[in-house]
Amino acid sequence: MKKKAAEKAVEYVEDGMIVGLGTGSTVAYTIKKLGEKIGEGLKITGIPTSMQTKKLAAEYGIPLADLNEYTEIDLTIDGADEVDSNLDLIKGGGGALTREKIVAYHSKKEIIVIDETKIVKGLGCDFPVPVEVIKYGWQNTKKAVEKLGCKAELRRIMDEVYITDNSNYILDCDFGRIEDPEQLEQEINNIPGVVENGLFIDLADEVIVGSRQGIMTLEK
Ligand code: 5RP
Repeated sequence: MKKKAAEKAVEYVEDGMIVGLGTGSTVAYTIKKLGEKIGEGLKITGIPTSMQTKKLAAEYGIPLADLNEYTEIDLTIDGADEVDSNLDLIKGGGGALTREKIVAYHSKKEIIVIDETKIVKGLGCDFPVPVEVIKYGWQNTKKAVEKLGCKAELRRIMDEVYITDNSNYILDCDFGRIEDPEQLEQEINNIPGVVENGLFIDLADEVIVGSRQGIMTLEK
């Protein structure tokens, strides 16, 4: 289901475009397909949102550039952990939320590729909000985030504390169902020590959903 959605998104990519490349197992299929198209003559420049994507895209022969070289990105294709009916998102399961949000903000069009399990009635029901925090004073930052009404866990992978590409920590914050995602996004980001959070409000233009029945496209 992920593969179907991810490959469909490649149809939106045109010759000469600057393309933001998201992070995760779904977008990995997009990157592979883009690599095939480049082999057939497609000319694009990719802007990776993580070290993982940079490595993968390079392996598939996608020419890459740094975001600082462009003020605007034509199209970004990325995954998500949850999508609600407004096309607001929770992202950051793969830890790349800060770079993903910067790239999304500077993109003319943001396409999200997911399987149908990611569609939710309310954000926060199934997935905690990842919050990237700097290491300095992180325990105090955690307490301040928890005062907004969540239980926060420092992310670990195999017993090791997870470190982002920006050399920061991630707090996975379980708020339960979030009534006002836009307000919460702002409240979390107002706390000193927080770099960015995984609530993506009004950034996605289109969501391509792979399901057992086929492909469905959700638009604003
Ligand atoms: C990475 C992300 C991913 O897009 C999100 O976690 C979805 O990943 P996957 O496609 O592997 O399910 O936000 O930071």
